[in-house]
Amino acid sequence: MSLFWRNFLLLVALLTVNALAWFQALRTLEQEPRALQSAQALASLVNLTRASLIYTDPIARVALVKTLVDEENVRIAVREPTDTHRPFAAGTLGARVAQALQERLGPGTLVAQEVNGFDGLWIGFAIEDEKYWLLADPARLAGVQGRTWLVWGATAVGLSLVGAVLITRLINQPLQRLARAAERVGEGDFEGARLSERLPTREIAHVNHAFNAMAERLARAEADRRLMLAGISHDLRTPLARLRLEVELGVPDADTRERMAGDIADVDAILGQFLDFARERPLQSEPLPLHEAVQRACAKYQAREGVVLDVRVPTELQARADPTALHRVLVNLMENAVRYGRGTDGVVRIDLLGEHDGAANVRLVVRDHGPGVDAKVLPRLTEPFFRAEQARSTPGSGLGLAIVQRTLQRMRGQLRLELPEGGGLAAIVTLPAATPAG
Ligand SMILES: Nc1ncnc2c1ncn2[C@@H]1O[C@H](COP(=O)(O)OP(=O)(O)OP(=O)(O)O)[C@@H](O)[C@H]1O
Ligand SMILES: [Mg+2]
Repeated sequence: MSLFWRNFLLLVALLTVNALAWFQALRTLEQEPRALQSAQALASLVNLTRASLIYTDPIARVALVKTLVDEENVRIAVREPTDTHRPFAAGTLGARVAQALQERLGPGTLVAQEVNGFDGLWIGFAIEDEKYWLLADPARLAGVQGRTWLVWGATAVGLSLVGAVLITRLINQPLQRLARAAERVGEGDFEGARLSERLPTREIAHVNHAFNAMAERLARAEADRRLMLAGISHDLRTPLARLRLEVELGVPDADTRERMAGDIADVDAILGQFLDFARERPLQSEPLPLHEAVQRACAKYQAREGVVLDVRVPTELQARADPTALHRVLVNLMENAVRYGRGTDGVVRIDLLGEHDGAANVRLVVRDHGPGVDAKVLPRLTEPFFRAEQARSTPGSGLGLAIVQRTLQRMRGQLRLELPEGGGLAAIVTLPAATPAG
């Protein structure tokens, strides 16, 4: 579950519980004064009716009863001893009103919600020995209407939801930015990872400040490392060239000379990798026929003994890339396949398969049929200086795949390493396509 939804739902739950508690509290608080008020009004009505009935003559009494019906919706009926009645249920507003009425009009007062099967607000009173029922409008007891509660409740819930969204976003946004910046740092983009430090929330500004400081330190360390590597490699190449010359001229034994020259070439290649890793020149992005690039990178291996190439790259496939950088990528992958991809029969078989990958990308798979690597170390192969156990006996810097990955990323491409079924290692290169698929 995302942080946004978790916080949002928690806030909504909190607000709902809160609203229900308030609703209950208001209802309870409102009931008592309303019961007393209703009781007072009803008591006055009963007293006035009784007084009017006592002091009017029989003819005027009929007119009075009619007026009461018309004006106040109040009816008077004679109460028979045989009348059945049902009081209000305990705990309701009606029961509370009945109790308050009895306190006002005397303990003999009857209050019922039904008499002889007719619903209503019935109040029994007596004038001397004659007993009467007064039937009042039960709406006098109706509380605040359900609709009113509904409208206010819906408004409160709506506002609460909007508030919950706003608060959740407020918490979420800086976290999202931080996560994105951390991802950028992980990809080596230190410049794009700067976070704003001028924020009203002190804690977030503090976190962003610390993060920026960390990214700066990392960037500086990375730059220092590259600079040192470039310096050392560059400085070592001069004495190495001298050494090569001295070997050529000064070692009489041809075998020894050849072995020494081979070692020197290995050291030179490693220094070359160091320099490639350390120096980053700006890259171009131009349409390149993938087929030609592959041919160029394979040329060296085509005639080599014990190497069998199976190239299947359609000639119309074009990638958007820098020619030199792409060449370096392909040479590195080919060199790895030749070095580590020898099959059990001693032959290196390399398949190169090019194809469109959806509309926007082209894909090139460089796959060998060698022993591959342990699945556990597969994700580590692109780390600078990492070499698998089996590779330790062959010369190499462990920088090749790191350079490949970084170079591809800079060309908006990507490198994926897989252990295909049937053994070997597959390096899958994706690059932006220069021409659309089809
Ligand atoms: N085709 C492959 N088959 C098996 N293992 C491989 C293959 N390609 C690379 N590896 C493993 O990945 C490690 C890292 O490769 P990477 O190209 O980065 O460095 P390297 O080849 O050792 O040195 P460099 O390329 O700098 O000369 C290698 O040391 C090797 O263990
Ligand atoms: Mg390599």
